[in-house]
Amino acid sequence: MSLPQFLSPRWGLLLLWVGWLASGHLTLVTRAANQDESKVRPYRLPDPLRLEDGRAVTNAQQWIQERRSQVLRLFEDHVYGRPLPTPTARRFLVVREDPQALGGRAIRQDVQLEILQPRAGIALDFTIFLPRSATGAIPMLVGLHLFDTAAPEPRPAVGRRLPGQPTPDPTPAGKATLEAILNRGFGLASLNLGYLAPDSPTEYRRGAAYLMGIDTNRPPEPTETGALGIWAWGLSRALDYFETVPEIDAHRVAVIGHSRMGKAALWASAQDPRFAWTIANNSGCGGAALSKRDYGETVEIITRAFPHWFAPHFRTYAGHEDQLPVDQHQLIALLAPRPVYVGSAAEDHWADPQGEFLALVHAEPVFHLLGTPGLGTTSAQPQLDQPLGATLRYHRRAGQHDLTDVDWEHYLRFLSP
Ligand code: GCU
Repeated sequence: MSLPQFLSPRWGLLLLWVGWLASGHLTLVTRAANQDESKVRPYRLPDPLRLEDGRAVTNAQQWIQERRSQVLRLFEDHVYGRPLPTPTARRFLVVREDPQALGGRAIRQDVQLEILQPRAGIALDFTIFLPRSATGAIPMLVGLHLFDTAAPEPRPAVGRRLPGQPTPDPTPAGKATLEAILNRGFGLASLNLGYLAPDSPTEYRRGAAYLMGIDTNRPPEPTETGALGIWAWGLSRALDYFETVPEIDAHRVAVIGHSRMGKAALWASAQDPRFAWTIANNSGCGGAALSKRDYGETVEIITRAFPHWFAPHFRTYAGHEDQLPVDQHQLIALLAPRPVYVGSAAEDHWADPQGEFLALVHAEPVFHLLGTPGLGTTSAQPQLDQPLGATLRYHRRAGQHDLTDVDWEHYLRFLSP
């Protein structure tokens, strides 16, 4: 049974913030997030196809050679922070292997990434399942916290579960989803946050950030990576591992994530073009939703509740979103020309379904410039549960914030029609 609505974290956030005044009195600061479309203030989005010196980007080469790196740098400096370096002294350890997992249908591996320099230790652990019926190299789906890797069998339907929250009972639907993934010939990998970057403002630098040389004794620099950037780094390291496994087709890896993990999936793929597909489910603010659109969660709300997710610099735009030199449609543009799927849920107002949809619409010129079809619409949201578009694809599922079997079904059809 789910929590009563008013007890859920998002309602708590929606209704009030608690602030201390200089006088020392506890004061309640009401910050109702706007959920009324008619109250969205006018906003202006930066043009993805305009270079910093004002020139227009008119051909694919100009985007690839000049503009793309400018946009990437804007996200590093103003939103997520500069990436951790790629480790050169490292090794992967297969700590457990079961060649007969899931009743003989899959090979399971539990893998750790050990960093040897600049500091030594385990930076990441993840679990993979490969279908045993595969005849050729296996394409992969990879994401953070897609299933509980401590459980004997993965349960993709628990994608909604977050660290620290109780594990819901496994549902038959979850098992069916896993089977559908394997039946399509895809392997599945799920990364844990524990070694990598625990989801906590005081702990997130304890793992990979520390091992990769960040000085955790001082407060983070304005453009130092937040947790989303470290999680994204972990996704790329899992892809490094796939490149070492002959059974895996590392050129066909889809990165997928739900909610905060959807934000990390987008940022990982924007930085690492080795990911062939990107799927962001209900990723919302700091994910696919436009930041300058004042609907649902805002920069102000998210950087107060989750200050550690972003570079400290991002906080300076709280209440000043109009001054952000970049917005999330440009994050989608960084994925071009690779296929991208953004999934919204109709009742997930917090994540701003319309803002997620509009980010795709405004990323489309870059996809067109690179010769790929986009969404094929400029304004109207598709009907509920009716996916729209090709290389840029979108659906608005009926219901609430969640990664459901209906979402998975759409995503699997996108990956293997
Ligand atoms: C909170 C947060 C969202 C995030 C979500 C989640 O609701 O405000 O930005 O997407 O948690 O990760 O479940």
